[in-house]
Amino acid sequence: MSDTELHLTVNGVAVAVPDDGSSLLTLLRERLGLSSVKDGCAPQGQCGCCTVLVDGQPRVSCVTPVRRVRDREITTVEGLDADQQHRWGDAFCATGASQCGFCTPGIILRFAGLVAKGAEPDDRDAAARALQAHLCRCTGWHPILDAYEVAATRPVTVGRAHHAGRDLVAAGRRAEIEGGVAQRVEPSTALGQAGFADDEAPGTALVAVPAPDGSFVVAESLAEAWSKAGKVQGRRTTSECVPPLELPDGEWERTLRTSWVEPAYLEVDASWCRPGGQPASPLANGGAFGAKSTSPVRQAARRLADEHGRPVRVVFSREDAVRQGPKRPPIAAGLRSDGSASIRVVRTSGLEEAIRAGWGSGGGPLHIESVDGRGPRTSTAIRAAGWAEAAILRSALSDEAAVVVEDPTTGGRARVEIDPSGSIEVVVSGGEALDEVVVRSYCMGAVHMGLGWVTSEGLAVDERGSIHDLTVRSFGVLRAVEIPPVHVVIEPDQGEPRRVSDAVFAATAGAIWRHQGHPPDWPTGRLPG
Ligand code: FES
Repeated sequence: MSDTELHLTVNGVAVAVPDDGSSLLTLLRERLGLSSVKDGCAPQGQCGCCTVLVDGQPRVSCVTPVRRVRDREITTVEGLDADQQHRWGDAFCATGASQCGFCTPGIILRFAGLVAKGAEPDDRDAAARALQAHLCRCTGWHPILDAYEVAATRPVTVGRAHHAGRDLVAAGRRAEIEGGVAQRVEPSTALGQAGFADDEAPGTALVAVPAPDGSFVVAESLAEAWSKAGKVQGRRTTSECVPPLELPDGEWERTLRTSWVEPAYLEVDASWCRPGGQPASPLANGGAFGAKSTSPVRQAARRLADEHGRPVRVVFSREDAVRQGPKRPPIAAGLRSDGSASIRVVRTSGLEEAIRAGWGSGGGPLHIESVDGRGPRTSTAIRAAGWAEAAILRSALSDEAAVVVEDPTTGGRARVEIDPSGSIEVVVSGGEALDEVVVRSYCMGAVHMGLGWVTSEGLAVDERGSIHDLTVRSFGVLRAVEIPPVHVVIEPDQGEPRRVSDAVFAATAGAIWRHQGHPPDWPTGRLPG
């Protein structure tokens, strides 16, 4: 601690702050209220959501002490000029590159820095390499690379309801069908203005964070709350991710064991509430594909606000979200050549029913065994949990090149095929598209998630059930440079709009598994190609 003042310029305004060891993220977001600077993993420095420009160069602000940027010029998305804001916001909206919109302000600044360095607008490889410092859970990367190209070439289009000939209200309806909760589709989403709970809490609110014993520590600021809670940030483990369940006994044609999988949504759980008021939803602009539906932050915000007689913000760190949030339930399954199967699962409410729905009525006999074991909480609210595994298993005896999956909850259909070069061909039928850009974006994102599930995603969990992968990079989410070409065809269909992206997720996983020769354990550690 020191009494010295530090001087810097933020979005063109001179700022003087005490030299107290704070990070640049804390200064920008907590003290200056610049809410486009998102906190997805601080202080891990791994998700890229808090990226800002320092003298025009992208820098991850959660691991940058203010002291290190004294006398420098800092730019956040709020500080980009109006033309740049329109240009990037328009491009991300036009290409479906921003779904929840949590990762995008940081990515926009990364791209702005790339352009300022003279990169060509059509250099997708340079853009993909620049994205190494970022994670996006929603879009599957290709729409983001499209946005990079479009930003340099498309004229600025201003207008909320119609955007480059699109009906953005209809686009929002399709996004809600695919994501399960209301979602704004508009240029401002990409600029970080999608209405996240933690962005909208009053500056006077108390801040509550989880303590190691499960209670909440309440303080006047986030930094003070973290300090009082004695937070020790997680590290990437050296432990292996091993599928936890033994296979059922039997003579099997195919076997499959999966691991716990982290939902890995980038906006960690947050809510806030006034005394006696309604707590803000942590689902924000997307809802994490179901994974946040049981988040305890809403109830905690309400209870703590009443207890303290003041507005209270409840904020999870990345480590809190990993430790407390539900995971995809692991399975161990055997499939006989006659089409009958036995599936062992971690006991999870509603999972056996979901598996039977995915197996369908035309399959062979299916035996399901739920077992208790040590490990993280599991939930069927996770994307397509149970039914996707069953549908994939059922398709595993086929000789067809493509895997076709119908979502038993919506009737949306997807056909996915991996061509010999490794590129992924997707055909979907989900009723009236409403907005093809959004359908395509969700399908791309589902391909990304299905591909990652089979090849790279999984959590290391020890014999006592403790999770060892606590950093956002350790979950195995694929990076932009790792995604093969993906082509999406939307079949003409004037029926009632139906969610298709979960079927794409399942069909992609099934197609990758088949393409790799049905290796028995996921993640396989290999990409297609
Ligand atoms: Fe990238 Fe949601 S749009 S994380």
